[in-house]
Amino acid sequence: MNIQAKTQLAFTEPYAFVGGKWISAVDGNTIDVTNPATGETVGTVPALGFDETNQAIEAAKSALSHWGKLAASERAAVLKKWHALILEHQELLAEILTSEQGKPHSEALSEISYGAKFVEWFAEEGKRTYGDIIPAPRAGQKILVQKQPVGVCALIIPWNFPSALFHRKAAAALAAGCTVVVKPSELTPFSALALARLAQQAGLPDGVLNVVTGMPGEIGRALMASPTVRKLSFTGSTRVGKLLMEQAAKTVKRVSLELGGNAPMIVFDDADIDVAVRACMASKFRNGGQTCVSANRVYVQKEICGPFTKALKAEVEALRVGPGTDRSVTIGPLINDAAVAKVARHVRDACAKGATIVAGGKAHHLGGRFYEPTILANAQASMELAHEETFGPVVPIFEFSTEAEAIEAANDTDYGLASYIFTNDLSRALRVSDALDTGIVGVNEGAISNEVAPFGGFKESGIGKEGSYQGIEEYLDTKYIMITLKTDKG
Ligand code: SIN
Repeated sequence: MNIQAKTQLAFTEPYAFVGGKWISAVDGNTIDVTNPATGETVGTVPALGFDETNQAIEAAKSALSHWGKLAASERAAVLKKWHALILEHQELLAEILTSEQGKPHSEALSEISYGAKFVEWFAEEGKRTYGDIIPAPRAGQKILVQKQPVGVCALIIPWNFPSALFHRKAAAALAAGCTVVVKPSELTPFSALALARLAQQAGLPDGVLNVVTGMPGEIGRALMASPTVRKLSFTGSTRVGKLLMEQAAKTVKRVSLELGGNAPMIVFDDADIDVAVRACMASKFRNGGQTCVSANRVYVQKEICGPFTKALKAEVEALRVGPGTDRSVTIGPLINDAAVAKVARHVRDACAKGATIVAGGKAHHLGGRFYEPTILANAQASMELAHEETFGPVVPIFEFSTEAEAIEAANDTDYGLASYIFTNDLSRALRVSDALDTGIVGVNEGAISNEVAPFGGFKESGIGKEGSYQGIEEYLDTKYIMITLKTDKG
C-alpha cells in the first residue's frame, strides 16, 4: 500500500508540518519509508535539515504567547476535538501505523485507542495544574506559587509506538500550554503527520504543533542547540539519551528521558501459572517484543519451571507470524534488519552458553524481518540477553530457588523501567515490589501501561514520568511570587 496515495489524511506529495503549513525540504530531499513486512516503499517524506528545523522552532515560539495564555478549558476544547477526530479515523490511523511499523492491525487499533486516551486525559488534567499559597515568613507578605508552561518543547518519538508516544508527550505539553516541535522516527513518520493533520482540523492554531521529518542528525542538532527550546522529551535508547542529555546541558534544557529497559518477570511457586503465562505473552509479544517494558528476563521458581514452560510453549506455538495487514496475524515483523540481527545474536550467544531451545530459535520461513517466537530454557546471567534488551520475540527462562536470589538477579542490571511479579502471597508481593529497583511493578499483571499512572524508569532507564498528573508537571515551571502588602490603611 502506498500511504500517500491511499489515505485522505496523508498526502500526494511529501510534506512535513511547520507553522501550520505543509512544507517540503528546501533542497527537495526526501527519504523513503518502508513497510517492514515487505521491504516495499510505502511513501516518502521530506528530509528536513537544520534550517527548516529552526523555522519550526521559530513558528513554535511565535505561537507560544497566544496558546500559553489561553484558559486551560480553551485548550481542552481543541484537544477534545482532536480526540474525537482520532477516534473517528482510528481504522485509517491503524492502517497507516501497520504499514510503516509492521504491528498487527488489532495491535495498531489498540495503540490508536491507547494514544487517544492521553489526549482526553491531559485535556482534563490541564485544568488542574494547581499552585499554592504559602504562609509567608513575615506579616504583611503573601507568597503565591503558580505553574506556567515551560515554553517550546522538542519531542522525539520512537518507531515502536509512533502514535501512542506522540500523544503521551504532545498532549501533555499542549495541555500545559507549551508549543512543540515533534521529530518522529524516520522509520515511522506517517503516523505523526496524520495526527498533525487531524490536529489542524481540530483547530489547533498554526505553529502550536510542528512535525519535522528527516534523519536525526541535523534536526537533532538544531533542536538541541536552540536556546528557544526549553525542554526535551525523548523516548529511545539509553545511548542516545545520554548524548542528548549532554547536549541539553549547553542550554540547560529540562529533559524527560524514557530509555532502555531490561524488565525482569519473577514467577513464584505459589503463582497462578495460567495468569503468569497470559501476562508473559501480553508483555513479551506485544509489538513482537519491541517494547521498553517487555519482559526481557523471566525468572521462574524451580518447583514450577516445568509446568510454566510447557504452558508457555503451547501459547507461543499458537502465535501466527506474518504481515500485520493480514487480520489473522498475531505477531508481525521486526522493524529492520539490524533488529533481526540482534535477536539472532542473542539466541546464538545464549545457545553457545548452555541455553536450550524450547520453541522457535531461528529466522522465520517467511524470511525478511520475520523471526520465530522463541523460548529458551536454562538461561544464565552470563548470557548477553541477561544484560541487554533483546527487543524481539525471545523469552529466556532463568530458574531460581529463593526470593532473595530472584530479587538480586532481577536488580542486576543498569536498567530500571519495569518489573513483574507473580505470586498469591500479598506480603511477598509487597516485599518484592519494594525491593525491585524499577519505576513500574506489575503484580499478577503484564499490561501496565495506561494514561492514569506515572510511566517512567529508574537508573539508566530514564528521568521523568509520562501519563498521570505527573506527566503534565514535566511541561510546567513553578514560579513563586512574593508580595509585600502596604500595611497602612490611609
Ligand atoms: C515503550 O516501549 O517505549 C512504551 C510502551 C508503552 O507505552 O507501554
